Amino acid sequence: MLSNLAPLPKDSILGLAALARADDRVHKIDLTVGVYMNERGICPVMSAVQQAQQSLIQAEVSKAYLPAQGDPTFVREIVGLVLGQDHPAIHEQRMTAIQTPGGCGALRIASELIAAANPRAKVWLPSPTWPVHEPLLGSVGLEFQRYSYYDHTQHGLDFESMLNDLQGVAEGDAVLLHGCCHNPCGADLSESQWQTIADLLLERKAMALIDVAYQGLGDDLETDAFGLRLLARQLPEVLIAASCSKNFGLYRERTGATIVVTQTPKETEIVLSQALGAARRLYSMSPAHGALIAGRVLASQELNELWRAELMQMTQRIQSLRSQLSQRLSVVTGQDFGFVAHEKGMFSFLGLTQAQVQVLRDTHAIHMLDSSRINVAGLTDQSIEPLALAIGTVIAQ
Ligand SMILES: Cc1ncc(COP(=O)(O)O)c(C=O)c1O
Repeated sequence: MLSNLAPLPKDSILGLAALARADDRVHKIDLTVGVYMNERGICPVMSAVQQAQQSLIQAEVSKAYLPAQGDPTFVREIVGLVLGQDHPAIHEQRMTAIQTPGGCGALRIASELIAAANPRAKVWLPSPTWPVHEPLLGSVGLEFQRYSYYDHTQHGLDFESMLNDLQGVAEGDAVLLHGCCHNPCGADLSESQWQTIADLLLERKAMALIDVAYQGLGDDLETDAFGLRLLARQLPEVLIAASCSKNFGLYRERTGATIVVTQTPKETEIVLSQALGAARRLYSMSPAHGALIAGRVLASQELNELWRAELMQMTQRIQSLRSQLSQRLSVVTGQDFGFVAHEKGMFSFLGLTQAQVQVLRDTHAIHMLDSSRINVAGLTDQSIEPLALAIGTVIAQ
């Protein structure tokens, strides 16, 4: 029977990452996957995470299942981190959350809730968006519509076209928004633009589905949550998919949460039962290790402070790489790369053609996605100059 299967094409990002890994040229620069690398090119275990892990291992006496909703400490703490401790929905008991296997699991549970509540809902995705959104949400059976987001010629957000497209949103549709550090373009909404989107969704009676996978890696934990908190205060209902992969460095531990704000405490109970039902059908229980670590970090004042300081260092490193790269590219090419300095988080498009990206890969051992999306956090102070020079060469050709 299995011989009937046809092979699927390789995942666009993982395929290019494998190519980069297989490149044995010593001077190679790998900017493909979205993983934070430190100055030594290592994706580090944060000290706060290491300490929490050690104390967890010493204290852990059982590997029995966690409660279906997840570790209670993690669930309480992640809600506070994302929504802010003083969010009215928390005090009014109009919100619930469930621990999930990473941000992907969180997105999937959120899309199961949308499909169960309104099977005819269209999900509006930004163009471009993270390529996994479509297969992840689409396998639930939901339909998609795209809205304009990034203007490749202007190297920035095209808010006017975004608003125009979103005029097509119907009651009961869901609009996916990147909470911060848009993947792949790094162009985020301003505070007033978030307000305009909140007004539009309220007027359309549409659901906001906010994917927040990079909280803390743009400006800081609070600023990066501005937009989602605004929507969660002003809209009657909101779905949030949060990931601890990047900001805790817990990638492989698969740690995340779906957070749902509802209109009434009664609805909250129903939504939770649906979320638990979806999890049971899909994977039964979330992995525990990462959530137990993140819960411990967040709940301990000492570890929490240490983690925030480490995260801030990571963010400042990314910001410094952005401004160095933007400056060197502008000087070397004579073009304006100022947008690289202003964009947020780990990703930016460099505005190169696929042919130029191919030359960089073949001739210069520089690896990025075909769209010229780079992981800024894959750069080091040493790799900026060779990258800028190589880009200068391909642009001049
Ligand atoms: C935009 C976006 N959303 C969600 C995720 C999910 O991350 P994970 O499932 O690893 O927590 C990612 C990971 O790269 C992402 O870039």
